[in-house]
Amino acid sequence: MNVRSITGRVKYCGVNDRSKTLFENLWQMPLGVSYNSYMVQGSAASALIDGCEVAHDNDYSARVLEALDGATPDFLVVNHVEPDHTGAVPMLHCLFPDMKIVGNAKTVDMLKGFYGLPDDCFRTVADGESLSLGDITLRFFLTPMVHWPETMVTYIPEEGVLFSGDAFGCFGALDGAVTDDAMDGIDRYFDEAYRYYGCIVAKYGRFVQNAIKKCSALDIKIICSTHGPVWRANVSRIVEQYSRMAAWEADKGVVIAYGSMYGHTAEMAEELAAKLAERGVRTIRLHDLSYAAKGSVLADVMRYGTLVVASPTYNGELFPPVAAFVSALVERGIENRIVGVMGSYTWGPMAAKKLAAAFEGTKVNLLAPAPVLKQNLIADAESEITALADAIVSAL
Ligand code: FEO
Repeated sequence: MNVRSITGRVKYCGVNDRSKTLFENLWQMPLGVSYNSYMVQGSAASALIDGCEVAHDNDYSARVLEALDGATPDFLVVNHVEPDHTGAVPMLHCLFPDMKIVGNAKTVDMLKGFYGLPDDCFRTVADGESLSLGDITLRFFLTPMVHWPETMVTYIPEEGVLFSGDAFGCFGALDGAVTDDAMDGIDRYFDEAYRYYGCIVAKYGRFVQNAIKKCSALDIKIICSTHGPVWRANVSRIVEQYSRMAAWEADKGVVIAYGSMYGHTAEMAEELAAKLAERGVRTIRLHDLSYAAKGSVLADVMRYGTLVVASPTYNGELFPPVAAFVSALVERGIENRIVGVMGSYTWGPMAAKKLAAAFEGTKVNLLAPAPVLKQNLIADAESEITALADAIVSAL
């Protein structure tokens, strides 16, 4: 009942997770997440593709058994070893001890390390290699660092189906339907793709571009990623969104992300937002970094082309939530963004300088001026906030 057909030979047997509060123990997921797994049936052999997290072994094993309908899978293809997709591998190995686990050399090494599986349960494949299931073929292409070194994709040329691993994935559990053409409101999954990419994949944009280039030679009709809907009606849209995110291309809009201890830096942020709105900027997103979900802020940074970061001076440094946010951006290699900074202080004006220094080594366009607020003398800082608003509008 919970197994759905994608094509005549490909079935969906993944599970939804609506109770995990932090993905990777780090990222909030207001809409949950799906761990997608697929059963491929050829005329001579069958293969499971991608697995599930260990916490869902019960649900997942029931779906696999339902998809198999009494048969035994010959292969389990592991496109990506991260435990959200392989926690269930030991369970599958116990259920089906003769099933060969298919991966590249790095996959096999990692699976042995994580789960202590024996050498003879693996079948190692190389880039471009094929595995026949009879009337259909699995072809494997290595796509390293999307998002780990071992990541690869699996393609069925006879059906035009690409099992893309984390690439083209998104947060958001699946509410009944699993293919995009069977659901309304698909935009929310594209929104969740910004969140997913910003949190999980953004550091690896160059490798995402390489993977997209490599896959562009394939005739892809359906994308089956490890998270989110199966893309059938929106293949080109999700590929385009991933291409844009990987290149740090953005829509027009301003994200203002700030920390504030007693409300004064927040007042600067509000003041700047009001001035931008007065000047006709229609897309403005404010985030208080002490409260906002980190993934929501990163999603907006991925989506919009202008960012302003504001911080109080705290122990002579940046306010810790702001420091963590800026560190996350630098770690992800932020580029192609217009960036403004603002700082506040009581006796040592360090925050704006520290923010400017943090962005110095990145490929962003740092705007001037950098408004500085002393204590609560907002009127003294207002001309600089106005000048920053003017600079942003000119740069948009
Ligand atoms: Fe969904 Fe990188 O694991």
